[in-house]
Amino acid sequence: MCGIIGYSGHRPAVPLLIEGLHRLEYRGYDSSGVAFMQAGKLHVVRAAGRLSALEAKLAAEPSMFSTCGIGHTRWATHGAPEERNAHPHLARGGTLALVHNGIIENFQELRDELTASGCTFRSDTDTEVLACLIEEERKRASSLLEAFARALRRARGAYAVAMISPEEPETVYAARLSAPLLIGVGAGECFVASDIPAFLAYTRDVVFLEDGEIARVGRRKGREGGTDEARAWELFRLDSLAPIHREVTRIEWDMQAACKDGYKHFMLKEIMEQPRVIAECIAGRVPADPGRDEAEGVSLPELDGLAVPRRLRIVACGTSFNAGLWGARLLERFGGVPVAVEIASEFRYRDPLLEEGEAVLAISQSGETADTLAALRLAREKGCVTLGLCNVVGSSVAREADAVLYTQAGPEISVASTKAMCSQMAVLLLLALYWGRRRGRKGEAGLLAHLRALPALLDGELPSMRETAARIARACAGARSFFYLGRGPAYPLALEGALKLKELSYIHAEGYAAGEMKHGPIALVDPEFPTFVVALRDEFFPKIVSNIEQVQARQGRVIVLTQADGRNGCGKLHAEEIWTLPACRPELASFLALPALQLFSYEVADYLGKDVDQPRNLAKSVTVE
Ligand code: F6R
Repeated sequence: MCGIIGYSGHRPAVPLLIEGLHRLEYRGYDSSGVAFMQAGKLHVVRAAGRLSALEAKLAAEPSMFSTCGIGHTRWATHGAPEERNAHPHLARGGTLALVHNGIIENFQELRDELTASGCTFRSDTDTEVLACLIEEERKRASSLLEAFARALRRARGAYAVAMISPEEPETVYAARLSAPLLIGVGAGECFVASDIPAFLAYTRDVVFLEDGEIARVGRRKGREGGTDEARAWELFRLDSLAPIHREVTRIEWDMQAACKDGYKHFMLKEIMEQPRVIAECIAGRVPADPGRDEAEGVSLPELDGLAVPRRLRIVACGTSFNAGLWGARLLERFGGVPVAVEIASEFRYRDPLLEEGEAVLAISQSGETADTLAALRLAREKGCVTLGLCNVVGSSVAREADAVLYTQAGPEISVASTKAMCSQMAVLLLLALYWGRRRGRKGEAGLLAHLRALPALLDGELPSMRETAARIARACAGARSFFYLGRGPAYPLALEGALKLKELSYIHAEGYAAGEMKHGPIALVDPEFPTFVVALRDEFFPKIVSNIEQVQARQGRVIVLTQADGRNGCGKLHAEEIWTLPACRPELASFLALPALQLFSYEVADYLGKDVDQPRNLAKSVTVE
C-alpha cells in the first residue's frame, strides 16, 4: 500500500528511484511520481496509472546529474487517482517535496488552519497539507529538521514520509508512525524505502526505523565532525530531537529471493517454493535426528520464558486469519489451549473481554497490517501477553509483541499471499506441539517424522498438481460464481480457496463450512454454479460425501479435491472432477491441499489474462484501516 523510495549518494538518483518503485509495485498503486534535486533546483514529475507513464514523462526531463531524490507509488486514499493527487507534493512556496504513505486523520483541521493563513492547495490530499505545514513551521524553526519534526508532531494518524528540499540538496528526511519505513546503508550512499526489495540490489545493510523517529540520510554541507560516509545516516526522536543509536542489521536474503527466478509470476514461484518454506520453517525447531523426537520434541526457544497461556486469542486479517482458524484446532487438540480466532478489524473496536492468563497472538505476514497491529496494541493495553507470528523481520508486529515467532518464508512479493500461509500453518502446528509438550501432553508420536518427510512429498507432487490445476481451470474459467466447501481443517482451506479465486480472477466465490450449506446457501446451487469441495481423508470425510450428494441432487457441478486411500470406510465419490492428492497423515493433508487450491486460482486468473501478481484494487501491506 503506497511505496516510498528515497536516495542520496553518488549515482544518478532518478533511475534508482524508478528501479526501486518497480520493486515496490507489488504493494499496489494507481499513480506514481518522483522529486529530485538538479542543479540546486527541485523538480517534480508525476503520472496517473502505471509506472511506464511516469517513465515516459521522465524521458523528456533532464535528470542525469541528480544524485538525491524521492519517489512514490500511490494507492489512493484522499482524492481520486489522478496526476494532481499523485506524490510527491510540493509545499506552496516550492521549498520542499514530500511523499507519504498512510492517513493524516486531522488533515481537514490542519488544512482549514493553513487556508485561513492564506495557503491554497492544488490537490485533495492530506500529504499536500503536511508539506505546507512543514513549510509554515520552517518560518519559526531554526532548521529544516526542527520544522519537519514540529509539523509531524501535529499530525495524527499513521504515516511514513520522506522529504527533500533545496535548503539541504543532498539530504533526505524521513519519519514513521505505524507505517513501514527503513534505511538501506550502502558505501557512500543511503536509501529510505517502504520495503527491502526497493534497494536490495545495492545493499543488504538495513536500519529499522521505529515509530516516533526521524531519519536524516545523505551528505550535508558544513556538518560538524566525522566524515560524510561515517555519518551518512542519523536517527532522532521526533519528540525531543535527541539523537538515537541503532545497530545496522544485515539482511539474510538476497536479490535472488526477490526475483521471479524464471517463473512467469511471483505468485507461481512462491507457490512452488512451499516445500523449501516448510523445510526451513521446521529446521532447528524439530530434531534433525528422529531418535531424539521422543526426548526433545519441538523447540521454540523464543517462547521458553513465557508461561503456556490459559487461553489464546488469535487476531489476523485475510489469509492470515484463515491460517489462524486452521491452527486453532491443532492448538486445542495438541496444545490443550482453548482458542478463539477473530478478525482483527472487529476485535479492535469491540472492547473485548480478555481473561487473566489469556494471550493474544497476532498473525501477519507483513507485520504491518494496520488492523492487526491495532488489535495487538489493544491487547497490550489490556495487560495480555502478546505474541506475533510474522514473516517480515523487524516489522511493527514483530517489534511490539512480547515474543515473536518468525515464519522464515523469505520475501513474499506477489500481492496474493501463498507461501506465507503455508509457513504460518507450519509454525502453528509446531506451536501446538510445543505447548502440548510443556503441558505434559504427548501428541506428536510419529508426527514429526511425517513432518520432516513432508517437503519431499510436496515437492514431488507440485508439478503434476500444476498440470491438473491448469486442466480443471480451463474447464471452469467461464463460471461466474463458485462455492468452496470444507469441514474441519478443510473449512479454513475452503475460505482461503474462495479468497484466492475472487482476488485473482474476480470470479465471485464463497467459502462455507460444508454443514452450513443446507441452512441457506444451497438455494444458489444450479448447473451454472460449480462447487469446489475440499474432502480430505480425515474423520470428516463421510460427512462431506453427504454434502457433495446434496449439491449433486440439485444438479450442481462438483469438483472434489481429495486424497488417495479411504481408510475411513466412506462411500465412493462421484463428481464431475475428482482431483486426487497423495495419502498422508491427516494433520498434514492441508499442506498438500493448500497449494492445489492456490494453483487452481492462479491458473484460472492466468488463463483469463488477469494481472496475477497485482490484482486490481489490492495492496500487499494494508497499512490503513
Ligand atoms: C490475500 C492476502 C490478504 C492478507 C491480509 C493480511 O491473498 O494477501 O488477505 O493476508 O491483508 O496481511 P498480513 O498477513 O500481512 O497481515
